[in-house]
Order: sequence, then structure tokens, then C-alpha cells
Amino acid sequence: MKIKFAIIGTSKITKMFLAAAKQDERFHLHAVYSRNIETAQSFADEHQAEIVFDDLIKLASCEEIDAVYIASPNNYHAQQAIQMMESGKHVLCEKPIAVNAIEFEKMVATARKYNVCLMEAMLSSFVPNFLIIKSSLGKIGQLRKFTASFCQYSSRYPAFLKGENPNTFNLAFANGSLVDIGIYPLYAAISLFGMPDNIHSQCAKLSSGVDGCGDLLLSYDQLSYDKSSGLQAVISHSKVSSGENVGELQGELGRIVWQHSSEFNHVKLVMNSGEEQVLSVAQHENKMVYECQHFFDLITNQCIESTVNSWQLSLNVLKVLEQVRSQQSIVYPNDSV
Ligand SMILES: NC(=O)c1ccc[n+]([C@@H]2O[C@H](COP(=O)([O-])OP(=O)(O)OC[C@H]3O[C@@H](n4cnc5c(N)ncnc54)[C@H](OP(=O)(O)O)[C@@H]3O)[C@@H](O)[C@H]2O)c1
Repeated sequence: MKIKFAIIGTSKITKMFLAAAKQDERFHLHAVYSRNIETAQSFADEHQAEIVFDDLIKLASCEEIDAVYIASPNNYHAQQAIQMMESGKHVLCEKPIAVNAIEFEKMVATARKYNVCLMEAMLSSFVPNFLIIKSSLGKIGQLRKFTASFCQYSSRYPAFLKGENPNTFNLAFANGSLVDIGIYPLYAAISLFGMPDNIHSQCAKLSSGVDGCGDLLLSYDQLSYDKSSGLQAVISHSKVSSGENVGELQGELGRIVWQHSSEFNHVKLVMNSGEEQVLSVAQHENKMVYECQHFFDLITNQCIESTVNSWQLSLNVLKVLEQVRSQQSIVYPNDSV
């Protein structure tokens, strides 16, 4: 069965999605949407799509399209996803899937009502090395600390410093360091441990009102033996400086370390005795292939929700993002809709 896709958004991430999706013979790119019809046409020519749109109403009403990949600025995710789902289309939506929990609950209600699949495109949940980390937790004893950073100087920061207002630092597009890249280690922590009991945060805000960098401390009391000390997750993120971007999960018997909390490269088990074991396996160069296959499986098997990037997981992540934003007084225009 071929799944006929349309794409919304024509940036680098959509190209990465197409390269990954095309690895699966079930994928067929049928349509390209862009605000600009010439952009849509040149993107369609490059990627062999049959139809182009510059009007979302027409895209939604095109009955030949089964599913839509949405990679627009964050503030449009909910509105566009709902519009597509109301026309019976399955939706794979980039992270963060919505700006807040209220938007996301409306998206889920729409997916249920129209019996279509809705999944957040958080690719890191599906990479084999993250699944290996998940299944290796029992090897390191009582879990005590999770530390992970994602700090990457943005290629758009120089433009921001010159007084321009690129989307990535724009409050109107519900952007900023935490939702853009801090979300990767955050997603991993919530996927591994669930909702934290306490959240503390700090950030440095830019003049546009978004966070340029920041830190989160998530406390998990319920994971403790004796309630006096549980697991602490420390997450560091930045779009205005670069870091080594390592991650570590410490238990009382040893630790698991990795590089890059979006890709989970070079995963290693280090026991307190000093004994070391490489846990990672070779992964596909394009890390989106795994989430694409999973999403196509969901559609093929007529499932509307993923058990990996489940609706509850997306909702939990959004709730933490909202709580952090509330602590840092970061309010997006979508929050007041
Ligand atoms: N999973 C990942 O690894 C990953 C990586 C990067 C980004 N992302 C996510 O992908 C999404 C897009 O990120 P991005 O950095 O590519 O965003 P972006 O460049 O700001 O915009 C993406 C696309 O949206 C359209 N767009 C741009 N400005 C717009 C505006 N003012 N109004 C309406 N549409 C606009 C453009 O398409 P047209 O000009 O063709 O309309 C553009 O190609 C975000 O949600 C981001 O979090 C995910």
C-alpha cells in the first residue's frame, strides 16, 4: 500500500524527512504546500511531487492525500494539524507538536473524532541507541542522576545580533532555546522517568523575549528507595553557545554515557568497578528513518496513536515546557488564544 503524503514547510528539516521517508517503499510524495507557489513548484520538481498548493484549504480538500508532514513554525502546528485531520488526513507533526497543552488536547480530540493518526515527530525516541539505553537501565542499579546538554550556537544568531528577527528567536513563532533544542534531552528524560515531581529552571532571555539558553532541574521523588533522595535530571540548553553535548545517566552501580541527546551516539556502560562496555549499534545516517517507518506502520495497521511517542508523552512534555515558561515569564501569543 502506498501512503500519499503532502508536506507543509520547505526548509532543511523537510528535506531530511523526505530523504528518510523515501527509504520506505510505502511512502509517496504527492503534494507540496508552500506560501509561495514558485517555492512549492521548485520543491515539487526537485522531489518528484505531482501537485502544488499555496492554499491550505485546497490542500485539505485534496482527497488523494492520505497524510501530511507538518514542519512549519511551532505556532502553526495545532491549527494546520487540526485542519488536515478534519479532512481525514493522518498527521506527523514536528516538535513541539503544539505550543501548549490546550492546543494539544484539541488536536487529540480531532484525531479521535476523525479516526486519523497523529504523532509528534520527535525522532530521538525511535533511534536504536535510545531504545538500548531504555532497556539497559536495570544494569546500573538505583538511578540517581540524569545530566544532558544540548547547546548549539545557532547559525541564525549572528542575524539576530545584527537586529534581524529570525524565526528561531521569534516569540510570535513560539520559539526559543528550550522548545527548539532543550526539548531533546527533556523528551528523553520524560520518556525514561515520566513526569517529575518538581521543576526548577533558569534562563537567559534575549531582547526578543525568547530564551537564548537555560537550565532545568527535574526532581523525581517517587523513584527513590527511602523518599529522602530520588533521581535528579539536569538539562542544559543553549542556542547562543556551543557545548560537547554529552549525556549521562548515573545509577548506584554504574553509569550509561552518550553523545547528543537527539541521536544518542557512542553509548557506553561504565560500571563503578571501571569495567566498560560499548552498548551502541551502528545507526542510519539519517536518524529520521526510524520514526518514518514507525509512522507508516501506524497508518498501515490503522492505529491512530503511537505507543512510543504517545499522546500522554507529548502532553507531559508540553506540561513541563509550560511550567518552565511560566517560571521564566515566557508567554507566546498562542497562549492567549
Ligand atoms: N526533528 C528535527 O530534528 C527538527 C529540526 C529542525 C526543526 N524542527 C522543527 O521543524 C519545524 C520547522 O522548523 P524550521 O527551523 O525549519 O522553521 P522555519 O525555517 O522557520 O520554517 C519552516 C517552514 O515554514 C514556512 N514558514 C516560514 N516562515 C513562516 C511564516 N512566517 N509563516 C508561515 N510559514 C512560514 C516556510 O515554508 P514556505 O516558505 O514554503 O511556506 C519554511 O520552510 C519547527 O517546528 C521545528 O521545531 C525539527
